[in-house]
Amino acid sequence: MSDTYDAIVIGGGPGGYVCAIRLAQLGKKTVIIDKRKTLGGTCLNVGCIPSKALLESSSKYDMAKNHLEPFGVNVKDVSFDLDAMMTRKEKIVTEVCAGVDYLMKKNKIERLTGTVEFVSSDTVKIINEDTGETSEIKGDSIVIATGSTPIELPGLPFDGKTICSSDHLLSLKKVPEHLLIIGAGVIGVELGTVWNRLGAKVSIVEMLPGALPGADVQIARFMERVLKTSGIDLYTNAKVEKGVSTETGIKLEISKADKTFELEGDILLVGAGRRAYTEGLSLEKAGVELDDKGRIKTQQGKFQTNVKNIYAIGDVIDGPMLAHKASEEGVAVAEIIAGQAGEVNYEAIPGVVYTEPEVAWVGQTEETLKAKNIEYKAGRFYFKANARAKAMEATDGMVKVLTDKTTDRLLGVHIVGPKASELIGEAVVAIEHKSSAEDLARAIHAHPTLSEAVKEAAMAAGGWAIHA
Ligand code: NAI
Repeated sequence: MSDTYDAIVIGGGPGGYVCAIRLAQLGKKTVIIDKRKTLGGTCLNVGCIPSKALLESSSKYDMAKNHLEPFGVNVKDVSFDLDAMMTRKEKIVTEVCAGVDYLMKKNKIERLTGTVEFVSSDTVKIINEDTGETSEIKGDSIVIATGSTPIELPGLPFDGKTICSSDHLLSLKKVPEHLLIIGAGVIGVELGTVWNRLGAKVSIVEMLPGALPGADVQIARFMERVLKTSGIDLYTNAKVEKGVSTETGIKLEISKADKTFELEGDILLVGAGRRAYTEGLSLEKAGVELDDKGRIKTQQGKFQTNVKNIYAIGDVIDGPMLAHKASEEGVAVAEIIAGQAGEVNYEAIPGVVYTEPEVAWVGQTEETLKAKNIEYKAGRFYFKANARAKAMEATDGMVKVLTDKTTDRLLGVHIVGPKASELIGEAVVAIEHKSSAEDLARAIHAHPTLSEAVKEAAMAAGGWAIHA
């Protein structure tokens, strides 16, 4: 007889493991299954966490080599040790993954390792890839949180040596001579930044007119200038026609307007997006339907698939592929399964790009507001007028606050500047609480802090910025 659980969670990433914890908190007998030996999914193993570890290491090196003199600090003969950077990254990954294991034990969540296949709508088979052994378990509710995988482009299959995904780029043994990147999305821009800081020549080819699709265009244009200043070549409106292997790497044939040109490099990163990962799940045996983009079809905000006891969350369903979005959906679906009113506010999901300066935003962009014919006011404040930013020698960037022209309700906040990833938090809370720009403007912000730039941008939206 197979074991029976209140809830089976398939996938141990930030969607699945958070969901499992919330289910356990709500008294559900829960099992979590992942084919990786370590929990944490893409984010902890080969995504957000290792990339941030390398971004920090490369940033420290860049700071020591290029930016300490203005502070009156003299450093000579700065060098770096890539092996040590990688070892540090791996240590961080091991620790955060162990942290998830601890949380599973603490919450008495059963943990199984293996590949999951549906047998029916309430039964799954778990195949242990090492031993070939299989077992079956039953669940009253099943949550699919299998995440996403990098998209391969035609004619450019990943080989992990020359043609790489983000996973491979986080474990290179040496700094590339010339790193070619397809896609100026978050992955292209962040990983291009890491390897550029460590001395690689970096060229990014983007088929759209600009970098960071989805970001407010003024902010994205600002970042494009930053990339160029840091020595990264960005080719926009440029289409990769084909790639040919060479003795030392790869040559890309690229068309831009009516011209073609070639770029030759030793490593190619394909950062052309990710797609929902459902391979091998045998969803047809459970009767679960996919949408036209291969994502699991769910009722928006309810996470229920067309099969009533099967739910799906995170990258495998519609919406931005972000760890924090997946986690919030994990909490919400657990509460729904437990009969509560779980909910995710899709209007208040922050996006962050961990470059230097950082980019962060929440809510509507000027472009989406125009497309929806919503009348708005924009308040801008530049870090060059912020005293803390001056003291940090980090005055590049701005905060932009977008607010409803009639009601003053905050609609969007966009930041490019120092610690934008942290500054965006108060904007998320303000939007979550349906605050007006004036609420943000009148809240007292400590002086001198970077957060005063957020306050001043909110004041600027009302026409009364003091330091502008
Ligand atoms: P993305 O969707 O952000 O960007 C992909 C880019 O590649 C787009 O600009 C697209 O126009 C371009 N592109 C696609 N095909 C192309 C082609 N054939 N030639 C030239 N350009 C092409 O996807 P990305 O950067 O791969 O990231 C995947 C997901 O992971 C995203 O949803 C992202 O939000 C998430 N992520 C988030 C991070 C963060 O929150 N800091 C970090 C890394 C990834």
